[in-house]
Amino acid sequence: TDTRVLALVGSLRADSHNRKIVEAIQAQAPAGVTVEIAEGLHEIPFYNEELDGENVPAAAAALREQVAKADRLLIVTPEYNGSTPAVIANAIDWASRPYGAGSIKGKPTAVVGTSVGQFGGAWALANTKKSAGIAGAAVLEDVDVAHAYAWGSDPAAEADVVAKFVAAVEKLAVYEGIA
Ligand code: FNR
Repeated sequence: TDTRVLALVGSLRADSHNRKIVEAIQAQAPAGVTVEIAEGLHEIPFYNEELDGENVPAAAAALREQVAKADRLLIVTPEYNGSTPAVIANAIDWASRPYGAGSIKGKPTAVVGTSVGQFGGAWALANTKKSAGIAGAAVLEDVDVAHAYAWGSDPAAEADVVAKFVAAVEKLAVYEGIA
């Protein structure tokens, strides 16, 4: 069976460069790999311990289930004010609980993305890797695809850009976590 990769996109806008990158990855997914986008992240309430436990909001429960079922997690995100967008931070928080038994625990995870800044959102990627790791994910530390100037600024270069991201997904698909 295919390796199922669940993609969390850090931008909610329809025209998101990061979403377009996931769509390009989907179109060129390595053999044996399927990439699904986790929709509805915007419907998940901000994490609140009072909402957790018996009456987890439906959107949060759905995310937890999707993460649990996925073989791999791919976080594709821009940088917001030098860090991780709140939508991704919130998704990680929900997936990190119950403490020590969250659906993200042990999940092989790669963090990539594009931002318009010249460093391509490198701070956001570093912070997201740190957070996902503390949440319990098995993060691919050496995958570093922070594409600068976002998507579409140089159509001629897009094939190369997509190849960088697809190569990261190939690494993710074979990564089994901590040796
Ligand atoms: C940004 N942007 C941005 N870019 C960057 O390289 N470093 C940063 O710190 C920020 N900060 C930031 C904050 C907020 C609130 C917004 C809305 C944007 C610009 C960002 O890279 C650009 O809008 C990307 O196009 C966002 O990604 P999507 O929506 O195209 O996927």
